[in-house]
Amino acid sequence: MSACRAVSLLALYSCTGLAAALDGRVDDLLKQMTLEEKIGQLSQVGGKAFIPNMPKPEEEIRKGRAGSILWLSDPVEINRLQKIAVEQSRLKIPLIFALDVIHGFKTIFPMPLALASSWDPALIEQVQAVAAREARAAGIAWTFAPMVDIARDPRWGRMIEGAGEDPFLGAAVARAQVRGFQGPNFGAPDRVLACAKHFAGYGAADGGRDYDSAYVSESQLRNVYFPPFRAALDAGVATFMSAYMDLNDVPASANSFLLQDVLRREWKFDGFVVSDANAVGDLVTHGFAADRADAARRAFTAGVEMDMASGTYMNELPALVKAGKVSEASIDAAVREILQAKFRLGLFERPYADEALAKRVAAAPEHRQLARVAAQRSAVLLRNEGDLLPLAKTARSLAVIGPFADSKRDLLTMWSGFDVDPSSTVTIVGGIRNKLGRGARIEYAPGVQIARRNPSFFEDLMPSMKRIEPWPQAQADEEFTKALDTARRADVVVMALGELASMDGEAASQSSLELPGRQNELLRAVVAMGKPVVLVLVSGRPVNIEWAASHVPAILEAWHPGTEGGNAVADLLFGDANPGGKLPITWPRNAGQVPIYYAHNLTHQPESAPGFKSRYWDQPSSPLYPFGYGLSYTKFTVANLKVSRDDVTADVENTGARAGDEVVQLYLHQRSGSASRPVRELKGFERVSLAPGEKKTILFKLGPEKLKYWSAERREWIQDAAEFDVWVGSDSTASLHGTFNTKE
Ligand code: BGC
Repeated sequence: MSACRAVSLLALYSCTGLAAALDGRVDDLLKQMTLEEKIGQLSQVGGKAFIPNMPKPEEEIRKGRAGSILWLSDPVEINRLQKIAVEQSRLKIPLIFALDVIHGFKTIFPMPLALASSWDPALIEQVQAVAAREARAAGIAWTFAPMVDIARDPRWGRMIEGAGEDPFLGAAVARAQVRGFQGPNFGAPDRVLACAKHFAGYGAADGGRDYDSAYVSESQLRNVYFPPFRAALDAGVATFMSAYMDLNDVPASANSFLLQDVLRREWKFDGFVVSDANAVGDLVTHGFAADRADAARRAFTAGVEMDMASGTYMNELPALVKAGKVSEASIDAAVREILQAKFRLGLFERPYADEALAKRVAAAPEHRQLARVAAQRSAVLLRNEGDLLPLAKTARSLAVIGPFADSKRDLLTMWSGFDVDPSSTVTIVGGIRNKLGRGARIEYAPGVQIARRNPSFFEDLMPSMKRIEPWPQAQADEEFTKALDTARRADVVVMALGELASMDGEAASQSSLELPGRQNELLRAVVAMGKPVVLVLVSGRPVNIEWAASHVPAILEAWHPGTEGGNAVADLLFGDANPGGKLPITWPRNAGQVPIYYAHNLTHQPESAPGFKSRYWDQPSSPLYPFGYGLSYTKFTVANLKVSRDDVTADVENTGARAGDEVVQLYLHQRSGSASRPVRELKGFERVSLAPGEKKTILFKLGPEKLKYWSAERREWIQDAAEFDVWVGSDSTASLHGTFNTKE
């Protein structure tokens, strides 16, 4: 069977000899289906009425007008609807239940951008395998993840869902997630179908404004935005989701360049494509389709097989087929893909969730333990002047201040499921109390209350994420003073500042990167007391900490760290875990610098040119922290670089006094060719754990896959004969340098 760890499920079935039998079952079923029942399989219906006028799922299921249901997570409700499909619909075809299981189902792991900060694909695979196990036990057989959109503009709230700015890291994280969700065979009872989304270019929204149009050149698409999608496909991802926005003036959900030319013809994708929610109907809203019939025809013929929740296929495709505008053969082909997935998932044999199992699986202690480790490994230590961290466990009095000090829901993020129960989440002050026990005086004060100015519709949809009413002025002043008094009484102050769950994710873009509300004011007032202050950031994006970066001695980016976040933060603050995460994004000084990314081109006037300090006259154009950056409580040196055109080696040594992890990173630059190439590009990385004094040689393989690029001039993938620079080190500013060339 291991020889059958095939890249695609179709291949898996061929190599196990089941393909023919499967095709036979699909054909038998197809022959019995009416046109309406076929189109029913192409229609995904909301289990909750989020979209106005959405039909009641029960009726649609009974009539065979629904192939899939989304937004449910309760196994009892799932089984109730499944029973209608399996017992009361004419052909008894089981439904496939789908949900955004993005970073956990019941056990919530750190947000995806945080997971990417671990630079640890094996950990990410494990995390998503647990998410799959919990979800599948509850009857969810399909997750709308991984989100693999490249994001270079932190104003865009959905940056939290992806792996950041870099195609190479993004591809590694995409592969790991697909493997985690689907395993070697997604038909196993603890796996789910994965979905690579949002194809493609969503992260390039104008101004970072969610849903806005994206204009991305073909060379950027192919060199930067596509690689994580391609990696997901190579890892066998079963489904793709088309994006909402216009890509180069054509909505991604009716974009045949994306869905036909690239996905089907070039990449030979053999799964199915689902639209984003309501995106087919929204083709009319875009000013692209003339009416809903036009929308259905154009989305379907462009390559969207399943309509998520807009009802457009169900209502429009039958007439289009009868009028000969859409062929029944193309409908059959789409239905075939969806039925195959259902057969492979084993839904015909095991349609129901085991409700008792769902409870047991969700309560597994090892899931929480993994969540804790994942949060430890995802955090990034940004500053540690005078080795303030780790703090001594003998601390007698400690103040934990800020709106995230005792918050549960905000440790999770918006994408934690519609019905997430945050009650068992360990807060930061809770984690510190768990760590220090009764011996220490630990006081907490929120200090400030923050809220979105423009409300999010998700605050209405998700019961746990209720809208926050700002405190009245008198209370705000009182709380602020109370927090300062609390800080004054303590020997050490931990400030937990950042962003609410509703401030990141979908429909959560922001125009500035400032810490919301009076958080900065509070921070400055506490720092002015002259005590040791540690800033713990709970944020989904890089925020403006330019002042803090030179005034607050220790800064730890914890991100939205999940259910075990508070324990993990305490582990890191008190040295039971050593930070080893690295930034998967470039951290700007402020919003004026975005979009910002390290892999830009050199230009005619590189910033390294003598006398040329910055592209801006009013501030440096360098970021606050570079891509790949992150500190540790120990020290590492990287040395002894050996370079050939086939591989690169370097030694990494822990020269400090504690065990710790370093992420050794390889960057390349091609000096000349058929196109200008980025000043540096990540082409290899490895996270290693080293004891004090321990040394390891890291080997990076090169080869054509790492040297080729898509040339805008030649309009194809090429590898030039050229001279290359190589750097190996601890972040994207690594200085250990060598060269090789591919001329001979
Ligand atoms: C989001 C998708 C998500 C879908 C279903 C949409 O609004 O853009 O990422 O999978 O909703 O919840």
